[in-house]
Amino acid sequence: MSDPNDLGAFLDEAWQHLERGVADAKSPARLPTFATVSPGGRPEVRTVALRHAARAQSVLEVHTDIETPKIAALRVLPRAGLHIWLADADVQIRISADVEVLTGAEIDDQWARVPPASRVSYGTMPVPGTPIPSVYAYEKPSERSRFAVLRCHMVEMDLVHLGTQHRRAIYTAATDWQGTWVAP
Ligand SMILES: Cc1cc2nc3c(=O)[nH]c(=O)nc-3n(C[C@H](O)[C@H](O)[C@H](O)COP(=O)(O)O)c2cc1C
Repeated sequence: MSDPNDLGAFLDEAWQHLERGVADAKSPARLPTFATVSPGGRPEVRTVALRHAARAQSVLEVHTDIETPKIAALRVLPRAGLHIWLADADVQIRISADVEVLTGAEIDDQWARVPPASRVSYGTMPVPGTPIPSVYAYEKPSERSRFAVLRCHMVEMDLVHLGTQHRRAIYTAATDWQGTWVAP
């Protein structure tokens, strides 16, 4: 094992997990829990798929339907938390981010890469969360105008490693991701 006291190596490991999450549908980092605060001030969490991770920009991206309630939450408070537990590595990643909701022509590239079979995730009628008279009383057309990208500008990353001795470090954008060890 590399030097356990190496903050940079710990951060590198976290980014490797995030990048693997984008590339490998079977990686546990593929499906983070994505938390927002509802317009009424309550925490809301749901599973999402990690679609893009760019370390140079400190950016993660998630795709969603613009009509889902999480968008209403982000319109009021454009902040999110992401959580990933990597059981094999015994690592927890928690991320705090400012979220930009992107739609329209600026996400043409992302839409072009969505496989046709997955495009039905954007356009459910009636819109997600609407009460329906029976279990399958909805349709899932593909609706390009409903496709949105949540660009998450990372502000803080909190890493925990459950080794023989536990390790925890916090990295912030404000300190250029230098990181500091904290009590686990
Ligand atoms: C394995 C899995 C992956 C999912 N991926 C996404 C996703 O990438 N984007 C998304 O908006 N919802 C995704 N969902 C659905 C959300 O968890 C959630 O049910 C939906 O987005 C509505 O959330 P909201 O009402 O909080 O907006 C996924 C659900 C599961 C179970």
